[in-house]
Amino acid sequence: MIIAVDGPAASGKGTLAKRLAAHYGLFHLDTGRTYRAVAAAMTAAGFSLDDEAAAVKTAHGLDFTRLDSPDLGSPEIGEGASRIAVIPDLRAALVARQRAFAKDAAAQGHGAVLDGRDIGTVVFPDATVKLFITASPAERARRRSLEVYGEADGPRYEALLANLRQRDERDSSRAASPLKPAADAYILDTTQMSADAAFFEATRLVDKAMKP
Ligand code: C5P
Repeated sequence: MIIAVDGPAASGKGTLAKRLAAHYGLFHLDTGRTYRAVAAAMTAAGFSLDDEAAAVKTAHGLDFTRLDSPDLGSPEIGEGASRIAVIPDLRAALVARQRAFAKDAAAQGHGAVLDGRDIGTVVFPDATVKLFITASPAERARRRSLEVYGEADGPRYEALLANLRQRDERDSSRAASPLKPAADAYILDTTQMSADAAFFEATRLVDKAMKP
């Protein structure tokens, strides 16, 4: 069983994916973290984020057991991840590793929840169920600002909002696997929804999809 959870930055898809994994006993992979980890490792090693060969090499050597580092969550690394995510060969390398993650889970008798931008369209086009989580840019920036800075408005909120809009634009307009809902995805707009309400609605959709 594969649950694909896609959506724009700070839409709440990561929190939702984690809860779904715990609820259904599935492995979870936040694929955004794979792009973030490559961007962070390249920066640490002094590579330019435009260096395509270095990006691919870094992706092949990435340690998937170390994706939990809190440092990877910063808006700066998110921006770097979005920049390298336009490189087709890098995407191919990471997609192969994301599929291998799910294959490993299956070998251990588990399904998987993967969240990202292209899970339902490219990584697992035959996923058991596909959810596309979205919310207005202002609401997403408000949530992210509360999470990172503990405040819902002010200059840092404004900067986050500008950054989110820029990332949305880059993620949606790139040629390689742009951010878009799969034709058969359920769209969940959580602008007016609590995290609990979004989780409840998602489990309803997953339960429906699992019925024979
Ligand atoms: O989801 P998160 O904000 O951590 O993702 C960081 C960046 O990684 C995104 O802005 C996007 O450019 C890229 N990404 C992607 N495909 C995925 C997951 C993330 O292109 N499946």
